[in-house]
Amino acid sequence: MMVKLLLIAVFLLTGVGVHAQDPTPPELVVISGDNRIESPLTTQAPDPFRGLDIFINVKLGNCVACHSNFDVAAMQFLGEIGPNLDWIGDRLSEAELRAILVDSKAVLGADTIMPAFYTARAGNRTLERFVGKTILTAMQVEDVVAYLSSLSKDTAFDGVD
Ligand code: HEC
Repeated sequence: MMVKLLLIAVFLLTGVGVHAQDPTPPELVVISGDNRIESPLTTQAPDPFRGLDIFINVKLGNCVACHSNFDVAAMQFLGEIGPNLDWIGDRLSEAELRAILVDSKAVLGADTIMPAFYTARAGNRTLERFVGKTILTAMQVEDVVAYLSSLSKDTAFDGVD
């Protein structure tokens, strides 16, 4: 009897932890010592095409302000401050890409000009109305991770072409 009660208690207690929040809020995201985030931030399926939209959208990722790749090479006003992202899916795993996007400052260095897209921590130039808000949602981060991973010689998908 005692054992049974104990088991029920354990079940109830751990049950609380099992219901992880979906999406994972920024303050609960953990970057491992080797700069990875293994688990997707949401259980919703990502879409690389939406990721491409976010990549080029000035109001969302605006990645093209600093990065180019063969997929967007025809666009005007591409930035070259950041490294070219051709075949980035072959160089970095999803877990590594996710970590860079979530918190570039933690992975690339505190001085990087690349924004941290999924942290609620205020930067030194954060406007008051953006304090506590992330630039991208969990779903948008996952869409961009899926897009960047698709820039790989292993996939048939190469974006807009
Ligand atoms: C304001 C400029 C800027 C913006 C905007 C920006 N980045 Fe970056 N990014 C950089 C710089 C610069 C680096 C190289 C690290 C450094 O020098 O700080 C970098 C590094 C990276 C890397 C690692 C590349 C490698 O070869 O290891 C990835 C991946 C990346 N960025 C993806 C993105 C994506 C995706 C977006 C949009 C959601 C984005 N960046 C937006 C400036 C930017």
